[in-house]
Amino acid sequence: MLLSNCRAYVDRVIPQAGLDIMSESSIKFEVNRKEEPLSRAELSLKLKGVHGLLALLTLKVDSELMEQAGSQLKIIANYGVGYDNIDVDAATQRGIMVTNTPDVLTDATADFAWALLFAASRRIVEADLFTRSQKFDGWRPMLLLGGEVTGKTLGIVGAGRIGQAMAMKSRGFNMRVLYFSNKRNETLERELNAQKVDFSSLLAQSDFISLHVPMKADTRHLFNQAAFKKMKKSAFLINTARGPVVDEAALAQALRTGEIVGAGLDVFEREPQIHPELLTCENAILAPHIGSATVLTRTKMAVMAASNLIEAFKGNRPPNLVNPEVLNQ
Ligand code: GLV
Repeated sequence: MLLSNCRAYVDRVIPQAGLDIMSESSIKFEVNRKEEPLSRAELSLKLKGVHGLLALLTLKVDSELMEQAGSQLKIIANYGVGYDNIDVDAATQRGIMVTNTPDVLTDATADFAWALLFAASRRIVEADLFTRSQKFDGWRPMLLLGGEVTGKTLGIVGAGRIGQAMAMKSRGFNMRVLYFSNKRNETLERELNAQKVDFSSLLAQSDFISLHVPMKADTRHLFNQAAFKKMKKSAFLINTARGPVVDEAALAQALRTGEIVGAGLDVFEREPQIHPELLTCENAILAPHIGSATVLTRTKMAVMAASNLIEAFKGNRPPNLVNPEVLNQ
């Protein structure tokens, strides 16, 4: 098929570099320029007859939406590394390729996990509010005491790309690193002397636990009331992965009752909603899912998602295909 006959829909405005390469490739595309996502009804109209969808992770792409788009739909290019918003099995059954944006956001996301770790442990947001409201009336020995970072134990849950990057960045803080993961990570063991441990040991021994697992049936509510009870009372939980990995009601309770001392959260169970009790916890740092939100990273993600779409339109295997089995049907 000629590229100029291919039509794509871009779910929301992404950095211009991604749109530019789509224009240069001469494919036709429409972008939702509204601030908000379209309603399902509006979207299904927009998708009718398109060959490609560049989807944000906020868009739930289910079998029904694929059906509404039509059998010509060839590729769903996700703008994000996590793709739990897409029913990949349904896409594969329909012969639709699904792609994501790995690697380019690894460092930005791991950096942000560290930002949350420090913000939570050193109470940066509380300190800022305190100072800004002119409560600072002189140095005090007991003012805003937080948790020590250097030399403490970091527990990584999910030692894939981002988990590994988070762990590697602990070198400057001389931390002991534990990890819980399906697979052994030899880089972490070699470079950091990291230890692969079972889940209970990680919970019991870590001063900071940082989550880096994808959202799957077996990671849903991995952190529940029982898990919080096993954590140290002085421990912090950092989540830059996916909200439903944590039972948010149980987390709010653990933070309120002192089961754990603090949390840094970039993702939530029912985004954009946040459990009302969590909103009242001063010992939680809350961020609006901005782990990969640097100018450079978001630009690279846009180029990557657009390139996946263009390659699929050219009849090539897109570089970041997550369902390669679709090619063998
Ligand atoms: C962000 O959450 C992503 O999956 O890229």
